[in-house]
Amino acid sequence: MSPDTPRSRAEASSASTDSAHTQDSETTAPYGQPPEQAPLRKRVRIHHLQELKERGEPWPMLTAYDTYTARLFEDAGIPVLLVGDSAANTVYAYESSLPVTVEEMLFLVRAVTRSVTKPLVVADLPFGSYQVSPEQAVATSVRFMKEGRAHAVKLEGGRRFAPHVEAVTSAGVPVMGHIGFTPQSEHSLGGYRVQGRGAAGDALIADALALQDAGAFAVVMEMVPAEVAKQITHELTIPTVGIGAGPDCDAQVLVWQDMAGLRTGRVPRFVKQYADLAGALTTAARTFADEVRGRSFPTPEHTFH
Ligand code: KIV
Repeated sequence: MSPDTPRSRAEASSASTDSAHTQDSETTAPYGQPPEQAPLRKRVRIHHLQELKERGEPWPMLTAYDTYTARLFEDAGIPVLLVGDSAANTVYAYESSLPVTVEEMLFLVRAVTRSVTKPLVVADLPFGSYQVSPEQAVATSVRFMKEGRAHAVKLEGGRRFAPHVEAVTSAGVPVMGHIGFTPQSEHSLGGYRVQGRGAAGDALIADALALQDAGAFAVVMEMVPAEVAKQITHELTIPTVGIGAGPDCDAQVLVWQDMAGLRTGRVPRFVKQYADLAGALTTAARTFADEVRGRSFPTPEHTFH
């Protein structure tokens, strides 16, 4: 598909119709296939992720904040796109995730949901938009579903936020939890540190179970010892999504600029770089600049008469 062609709503509705009416398509695994067969065949629903957990098939999740990357990741077969509040850093150039606002996140969520028809799009609730009360969490989540057209929301925190998760899921909004290192609590956690080591592992397990009991459909675990993440993944009936949580989680998530080598500066140990986009873009920009200066661009093939 050309990235300039808007995806048709008809395609969206036929994808979801397939899913609703074809017994076979409900039970056939469209995800978790080798990369060359990975394109998503239908709209991804929460029950598909649950089925993958039950079959023991890991699935990938990537962040996305704009139309080109969202479409590329859809075409690459990524079933879940997270419009993460990491956009605070990767899009808006804030020093942490704390300053980003609901309005700033809504722009990005709308861009992503307008661009794809099949991946499940999860909107991250920014700092200050849900912590005050379960009622505030419901009100903000409704905005992301209604104005952003998201399919689910994500919020950070364990047991203390179980009432918030319960209120949001009761309002009909699917919630993805997030425990371990939670960037919005960077200052109370004392910086970027692994969470759940030693005795703190039991508290993390209690957090994960509380989120599941409150109705969360999945739980992100960030910077958690692999052994604890493995135990939580085993104890939970809902999928776990790891980022710096070892190989035994049901799913893995990375910030796309990290995995594509676009991030400058120190890259966390849990990141694997699958491409060198920083190198490719710098070379492209330098070559363009050189050709403009040397008058070798544009050539006749790029010129109208
Ligand atoms: O904001 C984000 O991108 C996230 C992921 C790192 C899980 O929360």
